[in-house]
Amino acid sequence: MRLSLNLFAVAISLGLLGGTSAVRSQTLAATSQPWMDRSLAAEQRAALVLKEMTVDEKIHLLSGYFPNDFNGIKRQPAGRLQAAGYFKGVPRLGIPELHETDAGVGVASQGGPHVRERTSLPSGIATAATWNPALAYQGGAMIGAEARASGFNVLLAGGINLMREPRNGRNFEYAGEDPWLAGQIVGAQIRGIQSNHIVSTIKHFAANDQETGRNHLDVKLGDQAARTSDLLAFQFAIEDASPGSVMCAYNRYNGDYSCENDYLLNQVLKQDWGYRGWVMSDWGAVHSTIPAANRGLDQQSGWPFDHSQYFAGALKEAVENGHVSQARFDDMVKRILWALFDKGVIDHPVAEGGAIDFAAHAKVTQADAEEAIVLLKNENKLLPLAPGLKSIAIIGSHADVGVLSGGGSSQVYPVGGMAVTGLGPKGFPGPQVYFPSSPLKAIATYSKAQVRYADGNDIVAAAQLAASSEVAIVFANQWAAEGIDPSLMLADGQDKLIAAVAKANPNTVVVLETGGPVLMPWLNQVSAVVEAWYSGTAGGEAIARVLSGEVDVSGRLPVSFPASLDQLPRLRIDGEGMPPNTRFAVHYDEGAAIGYKWYDLKNHKPLFAFGHGLSYGSVAYSALAARVVNGRLTVTFTLTNDGQRIVKDVPQVYLSAANANVHWEAPKRLVGFEKVELKPGESHAVTLNVDPRLLAVFDTADKRWKIAAGEYRVELAKSATDIRHKVAVRLPESSIDVRGK
Ligand code: BGC
Repeated sequence: MRLSLNLFAVAISLGLLGGTSAVRSQTLAATSQPWMDRSLAAEQRAALVLKEMTVDEKIHLLSGYFPNDFNGIKRQPAGRLQAAGYFKGVPRLGIPELHETDAGVGVASQGGPHVRERTSLPSGIATAATWNPALAYQGGAMIGAEARASGFNVLLAGGINLMREPRNGRNFEYAGEDPWLAGQIVGAQIRGIQSNHIVSTIKHFAANDQETGRNHLDVKLGDQAARTSDLLAFQFAIEDASPGSVMCAYNRYNGDYSCENDYLLNQVLKQDWGYRGWVMSDWGAVHSTIPAANRGLDQQSGWPFDHSQYFAGALKEAVENGHVSQARFDDMVKRILWALFDKGVIDHPVAEGGAIDFAAHAKVTQADAEEAIVLLKNENKLLPLAPGLKSIAIIGSHADVGVLSGGGSSQVYPVGGMAVTGLGPKGFPGPQVYFPSSPLKAIATYSKAQVRYADGNDIVAAAQLAASSEVAIVFANQWAAEGIDPSLMLADGQDKLIAAVAKANPNTVVVLETGGPVLMPWLNQVSAVVEAWYSGTAGGEAIARVLSGEVDVSGRLPVSFPASLDQLPRLRIDGEGMPPNTRFAVHYDEGAAIGYKWYDLKNHKPLFAFGHGLSYGSVAYSALAARVVNGRLTVTFTLTNDGQRIVKDVPQVYLSAANANVHWEAPKRLVGFEKVELKPGESHAVTLNVDPRLLAVFDTADKRWKIAAGEYRVELAKSATDIRHKVAVRLPESSIDVRGK
């Protein structure tokens, strides 16, 4: 039977063609709105709908705003609780409003009277410390589900700025100092988020590595070094996850602002890497209309943090006058449409008020936190806590009621309310938020000991409690937050507190809740040190399970901990003490030699090395072999659990250039890792295929990665400074294109 168009419509309305109403409305939409045909490629769908859009409708996608009260101006679209960003969309064409919220640990709130209580993952650096991309994926899937259920279709997650500066107040949002590890972890998290048919960003592109002067500083970094470090981390994660959007950063980069930087946005991201999504600005990072549009910015996110609505009327005028071409204007819109189709945002509209299974989500974040905790030192096997202990003193950091989190735009507010109120700045980036997951209560459930608490404000009382207990556990914290670069010395007399407790009781454990590395003047006085980072919604439970040995301690440092400030490339943070709004340059003279690469290069002995982390068990490594298969380096080895308990181990493979032809930034690079769980007596064979870019030097002139011929050394290690086995391998000369092909 051939139906005329009218008959076809009647047949549909009468249900004569069968199928569900969803199928019918899809069919209808596909006829009147061909871009709604899911069988077409995202590219085609974007092109089809673009043709239908008026100039003003295009502007609605390019120019959004912060939909909250700002400097006394109320700008909230009616009908729903907003968050960080809002775009009108084009409802008549089925293009939804964009509702954007931060960030990498979960659905954040901007504070004020209206907060959403949501599940928080451990901080980004903590997830990196798991060295477990599968966990990062699960965490991403969980927070993405909460974003969807809260009515958000863009999650401003994916922080991946490499840790060049341990004092950077946002290190907790990022994934450490190594491009391969960070790329794997953040890529997996973004994949998890986007599995919910929402967009995730990756940010802040590029080199926003300190908060001091972040809007004015000018990072100076050469092409080769950048492509081998900061940019390589982005490249790995973007290839892995295809995030719908890239957020350009606040800072200048070799002269131009990141959000009007032709090199970063047009040349590297869009041309060299072939990125197809859209570039959104950070909030307040836009400074122009014509340069920004022509140099690669696609969308202005955060007015009125910016001085003007550069991408509204001014952009329209610039297109009319030809300063921004029609083709470029359409390209800006099409990139957004492409991502919305490709990630499923248009086909799976979000709605507020979805159900969230907070109990199930707490288990996801707990699993992440448990694998994130790093045992830095453990003299006399003080940990795990002995089952027969009679008394434990818990001291400091509100460990009786909760665990700390990092502040700023990424702040998630806890389900059930904050464990402690009235702490930290009243305005942004405060307050200091403690999640109501009590380490003390959880420790008490895993131990028969009497567990007593001292808040640590009275050092003498704390020391007395420690002296009258078999073990003392001091919780020490460093609050880090967006907009502030904290000191590496613990604040509020905590170093003194730890020293006094350790003097009173040699069986002292220090549990650190920090955003990143800190200095430890008391290290030799205490028996054990645990880095618990900001451990999220179920942090107290996770810390207790690790301390009591319910699970192995399996986190490994994703950053080096310096022994002193003079080991760092910069003794002081550039711009420190300068009047606000001063423009200054930060010269990254260390090039690509970030973190452990810098320590190797300079022969510095860090306090704790990248990759370090003790286990409660024991794993032996054997049968290390390396060979080149089809031009790719493949490394194999075997792990054997030769201890008595279940362990999770993280074998790390570094490559060292034992060869005068090779001009790397530093003696060695991490080229692979795997997290493996092993039962007692169990063995496991690992095969790692190394990404060739990790063997190469980027040739800026002809934009190729070049591997020098010669002998290299493959090192199987427990950390960057604890090499267990070495084997030589000869690599032939080869080169690959800028995309690693
Ligand atoms: C931060 C971004 C964040 C944005 C929106 C900015 O201050 O740098 O990371 O996504 O605010 O809240």
